[in-house]
Amino acid sequence: MTNRTIFLTTALPYANGNFHFGHIMEYIQADIWVRHQRMCGSTVHFVGADDAHGAPIMISAQKKGVTPQEYVAEISAGRAKYLNGFFIRFDHWHSTDSKENTELAQDIYKRLKKAGLIYSKEIEQYYDPVRQMFLADRFIKGTCPKCGAPDQYGDSCEVCASVYRPTDLINPYSALSGSKLELRKSKHFFFKLSDPNCVEFLREWTRGTAPDGTPRLQSQIIAKTAEWLGKDGDLSDWDISRDAPYFGIEIPDEPGKFFYVWLDAPIGYLASLKAYCESKGINFEALLETSTTEQIHIIGKDIAYFHTLFWPAMLHFSGKPFRVPDHVWAHGFVTVDGQKMSKSRGTGLDPLVYLELGMDPEWLRYYFAYKLNSKVEDVDFSSADFISRTNSDLVGKYVNIASRSAGFLVKRFEGRVSDPAIAESSLISEIKAAAPDINASFESREYGKALRAVMELANKVNEYVDQKQPWELAKQPERAAELHAVCSVTLEAFRLLTLFLKPVLPRTAENVETFLNCGELTWNSVDNALSSDKPINPFKHLMKRVDEKQVQQLFELS
Ligand code: MSP
Ligand code: ZN
Repeated sequence: MTNRTIFLTTALPYANGNFHFGHIMEYIQADIWVRHQRMCGSTVHFVGADDAHGAPIMISAQKKGVTPQEYVAEISAGRAKYLNGFFIRFDHWHSTDSKENTELAQDIYKRLKKAGLIYSKEIEQYYDPVRQMFLADRFIKGTCPKCGAPDQYGDSCEVCASVYRPTDLINPYSALSGSKLELRKSKHFFFKLSDPNCVEFLREWTRGTAPDGTPRLQSQIIAKTAEWLGKDGDLSDWDISRDAPYFGIEIPDEPGKFFYVWLDAPIGYLASLKAYCESKGINFEALLETSTTEQIHIIGKDIAYFHTLFWPAMLHFSGKPFRVPDHVWAHGFVTVDGQKMSKSRGTGLDPLVYLELGMDPEWLRYYFAYKLNSKVEDVDFSSADFISRTNSDLVGKYVNIASRSAGFLVKRFEGRVSDPAIAESSLISEIKAAAPDINASFESREYGKALRAVMELANKVNEYVDQKQPWELAKQPERAAELHAVCSVTLEAFRLLTLFLKPVLPRTAENVETFLNCGELTWNSVDNALSSDKPINPFKHLMKRVDEKQVQQLFELS
């Protein structure tokens, strides 16, 4: 058992849409890790928040005729249904549009300014005279400078795939008002990422290890950061300001200037932690300053640049109590039947539809876990694979073990196991011997590896039952002791398998704890066993099989 203290986050989702399967996968990945850590005795502060700011949200709110605050509040109110539905247990859910985030963002900005890493300069940008605002690239359209295709976006052409700057577009116009655009000058603030100290720090940080000796980043991400940092560290400075009107946090002493959403978004991790600490009477500064506290961010591969360059640099040069992350762990993208998720192609599966159809959240937790490893690899949701994997592993191999032996133990032996049979069982010793490897696989986010090991053990237990044939033993009164031994060993094996699966199947594990009357399962429980002192309860149904029709409906209704 460990006594680690860990501050863990997942990426903060934009508050302009409901969760899709990609978000849910990220949260399941994190939630499994958190539950595993807690079973090992670690203290984990697992927090999330909505990423509320930015131009797209402001514009969506305008279209709906509500304030951005109202717009964000509505999205935010919908979050709990998803999180509770999939047993994703954040300790706290916050918003980047909050008092804590405003204070922290302004504080960090002032520190960076004091460190000489902020400067301002005039830049030229397209301005929409009708909407009276500067436009982000995605709200600028025009004719492609390369192929002449009309109505292309400000950063790239969908026809010839070329990439350019908005000022390269021919006849640029506003996608919001349709009006012709003007080039106007405005003062912007920059974070000096190109500063030699900053580059040097990032070179060291990205390649370094956490205090426990493990690399901070995955090897694929280290390779990416090396590419970004280049041979001579020619990083561009980062434009961190936007002009009013903007839904964001005001820059201190600079009226009409706001922080770019990506500046205050990761600070939202700290804002959420701070609000959580306040609600629990934990000292936020002391928690961060304690040298053994670990800070870990789980994110998708698309936002690695922000999390492995900007974010550690911001934290490092802000100084105490802020600390640089111990790890940033990136995952791949969810695809559906091999395709990128997309609403227009009908592959954007809706997690709420999944729940409303009465599909078991633990099926999806298991399925994603089975497909996850510690690398930055995409995770495909394939309907056929989902059905066969969950049915064969969870129902066929795992739950089956308990249903095959519990009845005899309850009816014939008052629900009491034979202690010596368990103590002498080589099968039980074999399962216990596998525990350290399974534990280590969860720790290193090799969930697929952990679950394959558990299912191999489940196969062995099923083989044992097939060989001993308790249903035949039950017909022969003189072999009652043998029957007792087989059922006892089988149920103890089931207890251990349940312990291993608990981070992935929290509800089933809870039901099994009640059924086996064995108390709360933690990694310490590997060394315990079922005891004749505590009779088990009658077996109750634990998990249904996936119904093919439900999966069809999930695709049709999403
Ligand atoms: N708001 C930013 C993150 C700010 S973090 C300080 C953002 N939001 S997002 O809603 O677009 O994405 C949230 C998380 O979901 C990111 O980690 C992103 O990589 C992840 N995913 C979005 N689509 C995904 C898939 N199709 N598959 C897996 N994860 C995906 O980015
Ligand atoms: Zn083009």
